[in-house]
Amino acid sequence: MPRPDTLQFGALLHGSGGHIAGWRYPGAHASGELDFPFCSRIATTLEDGGFSVIFIADVVAVWGHQLDSLHRTARADFFEPFTLLSALSSVTDRIGLVATATTSYNEPYTIARKLASLDHLSGGRAGWNVVTSVVPLEAANFGRDAHYGHEERYARAAEFVDVVTGLWDSYADDAVIRDKASGIYFDRDGRRAIQHDGEHFRVAGPLNIARPPQGWPVIFQAGASETGRAFAARYGEVVFTAPQTLDQAVAYRAALDAQVAEAGRDPGDVRVWPLLSPIVADTDAEAEEVLATLGSLVHEDVLRRIVQDNFGDEDFSDLDLDEPLPDFGAETDRSQSRRAGILELARSEGLTLRQLGVRFAAGGAVAGSAATIADHLTEWHASGAIDGFTVSFPYLPDTADRFVGEVLPLLAERGIFRPPSGGTLREQLGLPRPARAAVPA
Ligand SMILES: Cc1cc2nc3c(=O)[nH]c(=O)nc-3n(C[C@H](O)[C@H](O)[C@H](O)COP(=O)(O)O)c2cc1C
Repeated sequence: MPRPDTLQFGALLHGSGGHIAGWRYPGAHASGELDFPFCSRIATTLEDGGFSVIFIADVVAVWGHQLDSLHRTARADFFEPFTLLSALSSVTDRIGLVATATTSYNEPYTIARKLASLDHLSGGRAGWNVVTSVVPLEAANFGRDAHYGHEERYARAAEFVDVVTGLWDSYADDAVIRDKASGIYFDRDGRRAIQHDGEHFRVAGPLNIARPPQGWPVIFQAGASETGRAFAARYGEVVFTAPQTLDQAVAYRAALDAQVAEAGRDPGDVRVWPLLSPIVADTDAEAEEVLATLGSLVHEDVLRRIVQDNFGDEDFSDLDLDEPLPDFGAETDRSQSRRAGILELARSEGLTLRQLGVRFAAGGAVAGSAATIADHLTEWHASGAIDGFTVSFPYLPDTADRFVGEVLPLLAERGIFRPPSGGTLREQLGLPRPARAAVPA
């Protein structure tokens, strides 16, 4: 299908804010993470403002590699995504609800069922952010000494998604007839059991819920490494990315489009939404001040840890914060693309550990007046390399209110943003509804 010619927006919702020190910012809602009325108020602001999606990131552990600096962050207590999104579905009408669920520490039957349930109860608004897990502490919560290796976890992920989509197809769209006169609840010929017997999973099926309203909930993914991108090309319908520059975004899109075509899919059926962390103030200078204040609120232990956690497995505890990052090798079983990006950034700009930490804490924040932010988004839109943005609000509620209240209207005036009018999440994103796979002979 043709890509929409206007930008679409998804929000990566952390109730305490996306910036690691966001919860400390004056006026920020420090207890937002577990405050449902607050999450609900942000969700309705985003829906009313024209966001297409609320996306809940997740790890199945506290969010950090080690525990030393965690007590200085809001990353150790947060809602489980399906529970939060189910609750949000009842206070919203249109916005998409995207849950992160890892293929490394779940079973496909459980995830197929939860997503199908969320799709039914929200009237076709569910999405699944497929991740393979990046935090080593997750393994220890699921009976393993170490996390699966990078290649193995993607192989497991592919089989996992195949089983999940197979389970969603358990029933034909019109199989559950609930015909009182004949006493037939569902048509037996319209139901099938997947009988999957693979390398990682054995699942008989069928699923215990009718086919989701969208056929399949929308599949989100954020593969960045070669293997991860191949996975995105095969399965992803909305792809989250975190490019450092527009050139990187353009290169990613060209490579992804080629891989999508190679995988036998139409590149028009894949949306790319890079990460955006906007800080809007009255002037550019004021916005830069806000960003600097946020940076100053990050404790030194957190700065050191945040670089180390992004980087991989080395121990940074003895490194001087004010020295440039030593030249470690690129190999890691964790996110290879992220590590390579950090090395490149440190080398090209000669950054110290402290400067890198402040940058990561900011999550690529773009600070400026509403017009400056709108100009930035206009330039990225004009490149043709992206279809929208995954917006992480540095602190709440202010950055969300100002983005929705000041930036989106400017984009609408410029004709590059149009609030979605309704329909299922697929319809809002202009994505095709998957037909049920043909019944095997
Ligand atoms: C915007 C964005 C959000 C992400 N959210 C999560 C998440 O919630 N949980 C998680 O385990 N990984 C998350 N990731 C990490 C990705 O799933 C993936 O591991 C990462 O992009 C590295 O890609 P690679 O596995 O191909 O090296 C996210 C990545 C991006 C860019």
